[in-house]
Amino acid sequence: MRRAPRGEAERHHPGEGASSGSGTPPAGRPITATIDLGALRANLRAVRRHAPGARIMAIIKANGYGHGIERAAAALEEADAFGVAGIDEALALRAAGIHHGIVLLEGFFSVDELPLIAHHGFAIVVHHEAQIRRLAAAPTDHSLTVWLKIDTGMHRLGLRPHQVEAACQRLRACGNVAAVHFMTHFACADERDNPLTRQQTDLFHALAQGRGGDTSLANSAAILHWPASHAARGGAVSWVRPGIMLYGVSPFPEEDGARLGLRPVMTLTSRLIAVNDCLRGDAIGYGATWRCPEDMRVGVVAAGYGDGYPRGAVNGTPVLVRGERVPLVGRVSMDMLCVDLRACPEAAIGDEVVLWGGGLPVEEVARHAGTIAYELLCGVTPRVRIVEQGG
Ligand SMILES: Cc1ncc(COP(=O)(O)O)c(C=O)c1O
Repeated sequence: MRRAPRGEAERHHPGEGASSGSGTPPAGRPITATIDLGALRANLRAVRRHAPGARIMAIIKANGYGHGIERAAAALEEADAFGVAGIDEALALRAAGIHHGIVLLEGFFSVDELPLIAHHGFAIVVHHEAQIRRLAAAPTDHSLTVWLKIDTGMHRLGLRPHQVEAACQRLRACGNVAAVHFMTHFACADERDNPLTRQQTDLFHALAQGRGGDTSLANSAAILHWPASHAARGGAVSWVRPGIMLYGVSPFPEEDGARLGLRPVMTLTSRLIAVNDCLRGDAIGYGATWRCPEDMRVGVVAAGYGDGYPRGAVNGTPVLVRGERVPLVGRVSMDMLCVDLRACPEAAIGDEVVLWGGGLPVEEVARHAGTIAYELLCGVTPRVRIVEQGG
């Protein structure tokens, strides 16, 4: 087994890489996601600096954006609450001994969930009239905290402005609703010049004002760029909901996290498992989509779309070998990808390769793959070994 350096703990995803019962499991494929817990904590402090007056609901849904939900929650214990998509994630957190407030961002899917939701004190987002009808009809021996989601312009989840007054009245009349707070979500906060964010902010405050309850609008992009969206108004407690910036990644398409003072949390590495002397004209990989322009060495890296590396990454996507940027060549396959080693003549089998993270922003890889860093981080698959750093 590759030993975790001092100060690092080696973990596997649940159900993966389990020991045969006779000591440590074999090392197996070298692909590894190193999770820098110190960076996670530093990024949380960055949120506090940007939104000093607000409480922080750290968004750790989708397995902590691929970093491990329990791991992320433990490292982010200074957060004021956590936001997850549904009850399964919330229960996993309670099972891991996390006692923070937890908000279910899509609320409940069936009334059968309500007793457990109440038992664990989870708060629920209510985003549709159908949920209010079901709440009103449910047994009243629960005490639920509701975040009423208002659709101020994204047109995904939320009650329309004209429905808010009636929704409030009906929720307050529900015997099982103890408190009602208000939230909305921005459609275009990552576009610095888009007037929609200010319009959504103003509409939200006009609708929430005077109703009591806490308020919450800002995702990472709004925390960084739209301070008016997280300033408390009219005495209400204001909450921000950072996701991607906690993981050190920029929400803005044109700018990397480091430029925003954030530290990458996940570094995905593997190793060269073959270095081949290829001839001019040799085609590399499935579909023979790339040919060697001269006699040259091509490296094979143990990383592919079966690990979460994007198949859509094009020729020229940067990869670090011995700290040197080399271009990906040919199609990414399930378990492997190939790199042009002309810029790194001393590269050898066993060399570590950085696929994204420290030294190579995941945002840059995402741009080459025609996607966003969110998707790459969430897409890391269970067969990737996890190593914690800075715990
Ligand atoms: C309701 C809600 N709030 C906050 C966030 C966090 O967004 P970001 O990761 O862009 O900070 C998300 C993420 O999708 C979300 O759905």
